[in-house]
Amino acid sequence: MCGITACLRADGSLDPLLTGLKRLEYRGYDSAGIALQNGHGIGLVKCAGEVELLCEQVDEKRLRGTVGIGHTRWSTHGPPTDCNAHPHTDERGTVAVVHNGIIDNYAALKDGLQRRGHHFASDTDTEVVPHLIEEELDGGASNVEAFRAAIATLDGTYAIAAIFDEEQAIYATRMGSPLVLGEGDDEWFLASDVPAFVEYTDRVRYLHDGDFVRITAGGVELTDADGYAVERPLETVDWDPETAGKSGYDHYMHKEIHEQPEALRRTTQGRVNALAGSVDFEEFEPGRFADVTQLHLVGMGTSYHAAMYAASLFATRGVPAYAFMAGEYSLSQPPVTESTLVVAVSQSGETADTLDAVRRARSAGARTLAVTNVVASSITRECDDSLLIRAGPEIGVAATKTFSSQVTALLLLCERITADITGTASAESRELLESVARLPGDVQAVLDTSTAADVAEAYAGSEAYFFIGRGVAHPVALEGALKFKEISYEHAEGFAASELKHGPLALVTERTPVFAVFTGRDDEMTLNNVKEVQARGAPVVAVTSHTDGDVVDVADAVLAIPPTHPDLAGVPANVQLQLVAYHAANRLGRPIDKPRNLAKCVTVE
Ligand code: F6R
Repeated sequence: MCGITACLRADGSLDPLLTGLKRLEYRGYDSAGIALQNGHGIGLVKCAGEVELLCEQVDEKRLRGTVGIGHTRWSTHGPPTDCNAHPHTDERGTVAVVHNGIIDNYAALKDGLQRRGHHFASDTDTEVVPHLIEEELDGGASNVEAFRAAIATLDGTYAIAAIFDEEQAIYATRMGSPLVLGEGDDEWFLASDVPAFVEYTDRVRYLHDGDFVRITAGGVELTDADGYAVERPLETVDWDPETAGKSGYDHYMHKEIHEQPEALRRTTQGRVNALAGSVDFEEFEPGRFADVTQLHLVGMGTSYHAAMYAASLFATRGVPAYAFMAGEYSLSQPPVTESTLVVAVSQSGETADTLDAVRRARSAGARTLAVTNVVASSITRECDDSLLIRAGPEIGVAATKTFSSQVTALLLLCERITADITGTASAESRELLESVARLPGDVQAVLDTSTAADVAEAYAGSEAYFFIGRGVAHPVALEGALKFKEISYEHAEGFAASELKHGPLALVTERTPVFAVFTGRDDEMTLNNVKEVQARGAPVVAVTSHTDGDVVDVADAVLAIPPTHPDLAGVPANVQLQLVAYHAANRLGRPIDKPRNLAKCVTVE
């Protein structure tokens, strides 16, 4: 996830571009850059670091111009360095480009361009775009023709904006990544999100996939992929700049819960071949994990729950895999060999306990793999390999979209490692990967229809809140309880459903609602546990895809999830529990984005 901005304004575009980048930092903040057409060519400043640093450099370079583009980056291809920051240009500096998204076929395009004599300055997928445009221009195309022809060769997702050295115009298009047009009085803006320009205009048009925009001082030309004019309705937004930072949501956590369909699309993009039942990671060649004999998955908090989820998936495929709390692993690490793969699961990639577990595993001779959201974080530097979850930055202290993306990335990894070890995809792979392809839509359906706010209201004021599940629903129950306690400050506990009778049942009363997570596997057994707690008077909220039958008949309330593969059902189920926690905390007026005593990144053991 990155943020892009563009502006054409007679009074100068520098200030709106920088303001826009500051407002888009929630989409990425590891590097930033802008390019301005100054009447003689393109002036460009970019650097690794936050927008504040860019502002200082822009001041020094006295950049000016009426037409410009800007970018704030969250790395997916190449670490955060000055070279990898956007905008990117061709070698002559004829065109400058900013991009949000992932170009799936960039490696093949880059290869072809290099063979035709192009030299690249960065590791990014984006840099192919200015080179493709340059090549079209060299072949005699006009700016508009060159832009369209270059875009036509791209596979993947993108919102792209470009400026040329000899034209006072902005060119832009989108496919699968957001792009909004803002219209002021003789001034125009483009951005990944409205907050970028809401201080300048409240009149917006939301662009559709395949739309092309050309903005000049004479106005806006809006066309479809074939070049025909299209109309997009002019709408008025009523956000003040403060609300706009959260795109209209009261809290970042609520916004990030709603970003999950988009995050999951990025997590899975270019990695799933449902037809073949296979998973391809550009990070790892086929067979890379063929000699792995066992896995240790380490993480803390929410990441530990994702590790538990993955260990359960590996176990059902016959691959020995164990989840450990990283802090405990460091103290009593089980024996490893060079065929043990230690997978460090960490959103931030900076958690001290997890980092320490990686160091110990390495020094004991194990192979290490980081599964993280942050390119070039400490854990990626310490591990032999890295797999990015691509969730985009998370600002709320409570992890939400990163858990969904971790679980989904780990599920893909599990499919891939199992195939590498056994030499074939699992029998259920095709069906499972089809469910993965539907997952963003399933999560969207939960967000659109959830009754979690009513459930939170109905059980407000309870003595404690318990969460139960078995198999992959066990870590989901633990995660549901963690989210509930950390943002509401109410007592919440998660248990394996099978564990209830062995102690926790003593806590259950009519004042302790129990959330039971059903995945479609072993549901009858969890239903027995539900009856046990109901016999002690506890109300039961079932999180389930069942729409009739015993589970629905027995439950006091239902949080519905769409039917999906049992291996994956924990993801939409967890989204329901995130929403319950959010609404419970919100009605108590808690500081949801910054719960007391907690920090987003724990860099001490
Ligand atoms: C809970 C939460 C924490 C983190 C934990 C590990 O909502 O966010 O439990 O999951 O501190 O952090 P990372 O994933 O950055 O290693």
